Amino acid sequence: MLEKIVEIAKEAGRFLKENEGKISQIDEKGSFTNLVTDIDKGSEKMIKEFIEKNFPGHGILAEESGASSPLSDYRWIIDPLDGTTNFTHAFPVYCVSIALEHKGELVAGTVYDPNFDELFSAEKGGGSYMNGKRLSVTSADNLEKSMLATGFPYDVKHNPFNCVQHFEEFLTQTQAVRRLGSAALDACYVAAGRLDGFWEVNLHPWDTAAAVLITTEAGGKVTGFHGEKYSIYQRDIVLSNGLIHDQMLEIIKKNL
Ligand code: IPD
Ligand code: CA
Ligand code: CA
Repeated sequence: MLEKIVEIAKEAGRFLKENEGKISQIDEKGSFTNLVTDIDKGSEKMIKEFIEKNFPGHGILAEESGASSPLSDYRWIIDPLDGTTNFTHAFPVYCVSIALEHKGELVAGTVYDPNFDELFSAEKGGGSYMNGKRLSVTSADNLEKSMLATGFPYDVKHNPFNCVQHFEEFLTQTQAVRRLGSAALDACYVAAGRLDGFWEVNLHPWDTAAAVLITTEAGGKVTGFHGEKYSIYQRDIVLSNGLIHDQMLEIIKKNL
């Protein structure tokens, strides 16, 4: 199944890259900061058609078209374009994310970045890989040796729970904090040892499903803001190399 899904993730990723700068429609999803383009929809259509053809009867949860076939044991969770705001500005940080749940458990996931041609993937119990190379989180055991990433919710202006205070505090306690604009890539970069940790609020299952499996299979740790076991159906996430997790939680909890 992973082999198949890698095929469509790459195809959809190439479609995104080919269509950068060729968007013909941009709509707002409730606010001028939350966008969807015809290219998001085109990518989602390609992925869904592929799944329906190759895995008929499987359930699908896709960002732009919602959920279908809820009775299947299998459920594909799709973000056809993670990083839409970047994409609309031709800022080359975005990806495709596809994960598979079996009876509610994440069993496979892939994230494809067409700009760097980087394919992150994992199967439950099988480790995680980037373009065939095994991934492992960093060994930084202190915030002072760490570089983190975060993102801000689309309603950052009105949402008191918006990560801005956390951002301020982490800035003074780490080597650096980055804001890439793609939650799936942020998390994969923790898996790849390019970042030591990531936190964010207001995320959805399609943002995190594949990347969470990729990170845990690379030895990382994922929880909610209170340190509780993470579910992709919750909105807040803290993801790290494991060693700095408690230090991150301490700062996050102080600013809740
Ligand atoms: C968004 C990106 C962004 C994060 C937002 C997400 P989208 O996904 O992952 O980094 O800050 O919360 O919604 O809308 O580009 O698929
Ligand atoms: Ca997303
Ligand atoms: Ca998206």
